[in-house]
Amino acid sequence: MKAIKGWRYRHQLFSRFDNGIEFDKEGFESSKSESVALFIARHLPGKTVLDAFTGIGGCAIAFAREGKHVISVEINDERSRMAQNNAMVYGVESQINFVVGDLIKLWRRFDFDAAYFDPSWGGLGYENLASLNFSSFKPNVLHLIKKLTDLGKSVAITLPLNFDLNELKRIKKGAHLYFNEQYGKPYCIHCIWVAAPEIIDAQDQEMDRGAVARAPDHSLNRARQKQRIGCASLCAATHRSYVTTTAVEL
Ligand SMILES: C[S@@+](CC[C@H](N)C(=O)[O-])C[C@H]1O[C@@H](n2cnc3c(N)ncnc32)[C@H](O)[C@@H]1O
Repeated sequence: MKAIKGWRYRHQLFSRFDNGIEFDKEGFESSKSESVALFIARHLPGKTVLDAFTGIGGCAIAFAREGKHVISVEINDERSRMAQNNAMVYGVESQINFVVGDLIKLWRRFDFDAAYFDPSWGGLGYENLASLNFSSFKPNVLHLIKKLTDLGKSVAITLPLNFDLNELKRIKKGAHLYFNEQYGKPYCIHCIWVAAPEIIDAQDQEMDRGAVARAPDHSLNRARQKQRIGCASLCAATHRSYVTTTAVEL
């Protein structure tokens, strides 16, 4: 198991890890920690969530634990089966509809009011690139996110530290940015972007200005980025009470 990145943090990925959680290397390494997943689930409005890239189920389980109905889409059938097993470990499998297939082809078939995107950030070594944008992701979900926000659906996406936040301006003004930490995953620091009409109405400009102005500067080295993110956490937290943020640990 030593070859798996972040193995010693497995109980932070799944607190019930020892109760029969199943995984493969890629699924484990790309899974969001339970605290991050629950954080997203609590901040994404909507009763039925399309979990667009389910992996081994970290986020789908969190959405279900928060009382939502989940449409889980995963292209890898074995990983989808693992996600189903893992949902059973948490006793939430009846709230999740597991679909195996390509999200880009399938999404129109589903009825949902919110969507969560967690695509691959570009594969091995993505963290060493100076800057990532939507075209770095596999698949590129920019077009689909634009479409869904235009349809009035709430959308969240997890983004890596070195993502160029100017890209978000291509979608919709008034997005909200949350910083959080990913336990035990070097370089996997997330900012979680949420576009939700009912939140945006309340505080868009202030939040947008504050968050983007303090976004990571990609010309800085990692230690300096860490300081900047810590600063962003603090500033974002002053905006409205439902934003909970934590210091970032590399
Ligand atoms: C970053 S992982 C998701 C991790 C998950 N959110 C978790 O917390 O456990 C991305 C997943 O998307 C899947 N995937 C890639 N392309 C896809 C597509 N076109 N449609 C559906 N799933 C896809 C991959 O197989 C991979 O398991």
